[in-house]
Amino acid sequence: MASQLHVLIVGAGVGGLMLAVLLEQAHISYEIFEKAKELRPLGSALSLHNSLMVIFEQLGMYQEILRISKPFGALHLRKEDLSLTGSLLARPPGVDCAEHYGDYNRVIGRPELMSMFLERIPPHKIHYNKRVLSTKQDDNEVILQCSDNTLYSGSILVGADGAYSSVRQNLYRQLAKQGVLPKADAKPLGYGYDCVVGIASDLDPKVYPVLNSEYCEFEAVLSKDTPYTWWFMPLVGNKIAWMVTHDVRKEGTDEERNFRFSEWGQTAASEMCSRVRDLPSPYGGVVGDIIDKTPPDLISKVMLEDKFFSTWYSGRTVLLGDACHKMVPFGGQGANIAILSALHLTNLLFDIYSASQDEITRVFREYYAMRRKPGKVSVDGSNKTGSLLHKKGAMANSLRHMFLNWIPKWAIILGSNKLNARRDQISFLPYVKLRGSFTGSQVNPPSRRVSEKAAFARTI
Ligand SMILES: Cc1cc2nc3c(=O)[nH]c(=O)nc-3n(C[C@H](O)[C@H](O)[C@H](O)COP(=O)(O)OP(=O)(O)OC[C@H]3O[C@@H](n4cnc5c(N)ncnc54)[C@H](O)[C@@H]3O)c2cc1C
Ligand SMILES: *[C@@H]1O[C@H](CO)[C@@H](O)[C@H](O)[C@H]1NC(C)=O
Repeated sequence: MASQLHVLIVGAGVGGLMLAVLLEQAHISYEIFEKAKELRPLGSALSLHNSLMVIFEQLGMYQEILRISKPFGALHLRKEDLSLTGSLLARPPGVDCAEHYGDYNRVIGRPELMSMFLERIPPHKIHYNKRVLSTKQDDNEVILQCSDNTLYSGSILVGADGAYSSVRQNLYRQLAKQGVLPKADAKPLGYGYDCVVGIASDLDPKVYPVLNSEYCEFEAVLSKDTPYTWWFMPLVGNKIAWMVTHDVRKEGTDEERNFRFSEWGQTAASEMCSRVRDLPSPYGGVVGDIIDKTPPDLISKVMLEDKFFSTWYSGRTVLLGDACHKMVPFGGQGANIAILSALHLTNLLFDIYSASQDEITRVFREYYAMRRKPGKVSVDGSNKTGSLLHKKGAMANSLRHMFLNWIPKWAIILGSNKLNARRDQISFLPYVKLRGSFTGSQVNPPSRRVSEKAAFARTI
């Protein structure tokens, strides 16, 4: 049945590409539409949660991930004078993540993750330079129109086109016209921080000995008086990913801020870089030293916003990733949640009975029921972490100190057990044995189609 489906994916970001990799495995037909002329190696580092490793193992990507990422070892939080407020450890003397859950979280450059996905997607299935402008759907098909006036039709449309999703905006326009769009969904995203990111390369391990470490230890410096925080994440291959954030939450309403700071691209990026270059670096010297080792055209400025949308699907259209739950990056959750949503959507599509509207609605309803809560929890949690990190003053400092130094080991274990409550897998591929001493994880059942086939085989 699934072979009758044709899935249109809008957006070749982390969510869109992961979905394509999975649909490829499921032998479900699909095409991707991306507005960029080509995928450029933009962005900083992403942290992949340990629970995703079984999925990559099923896909035969595990060894490659181990090679191109570093295990997350620690986060060190510092004051502007670089004195240590406290550390969050992922290995002894802290709680050993690999011992409990089989793997460490893995820190990887966004460009490296994207290339790894791209290698597994036949090039002819990705259409670049296709900005999706509008979408139309009826009971039989969904049609999208691109800015070059081309039209494409399919049975399902997945909007994986990020925080300003045009698929979402089109869908919401249709729903608003029918008077069924919840008021909260029509409100703008909450804009809290400006941020510049990049990856410095060709660094000398003699100058940056941290590059020799097998583990990636995050360094984050919180300023006392300026609205900035600055972050460093060492990567494989003598690279250090970095990010500088600028807290703009006190500067007017969301709409006003969007208007004033909506400048994108390199001019705004280099302007912000020049404002932060003299801040002290935890590796010695100043932040500017690392910025200078980053190719200027690979430095990008991003607005950090957040919002949880409560409408994710209607008709033949469904949203995935930042398009339906944009979060600030301080919880390190955005990519993980998008990847897991791609997993569950593919599992459901693999077992779909037909391409009828009723059946598609049932699948979308189940997808939403599964993914709503993780999305909401991550948006809210990341927002709170952002506030905790950016608060000024002695009170805030001691709160952060308490948080990083006083929480007992058992409470940390309890928290990470919760993050491993589910370790779901690709339901139509052979399952991988869970590693680690923690045995409390739930795993999704194998695909209905695969189980039925096995039962049938047993009867003959
Ligand atoms: C260039 C870039 C750099 C990033 N860097 C970081 C980082 O350093 N750290 C971090 O934590 N997060 C970063 N993110 C965000 C992170 O990738 C997401 O939070 C998360 O992975 C969820 O991914 P997503 O697929 O939902 O959205 P995204 O990764 O944002 O992908 C959305 C894709 O849709 C495309 N698109 C948008 N509108 C249209 C349209 N109308 N038609 C066709 N295509 C469209 C975009 O060009 C983009 O490729 C970055 C995102 C981008 C796009
Ligand atoms: C975070 O939450 C606060 C309070 O609910 C909200 O005002 C703000 O817009 C949210 N977003 C960001 C990015 O801080």
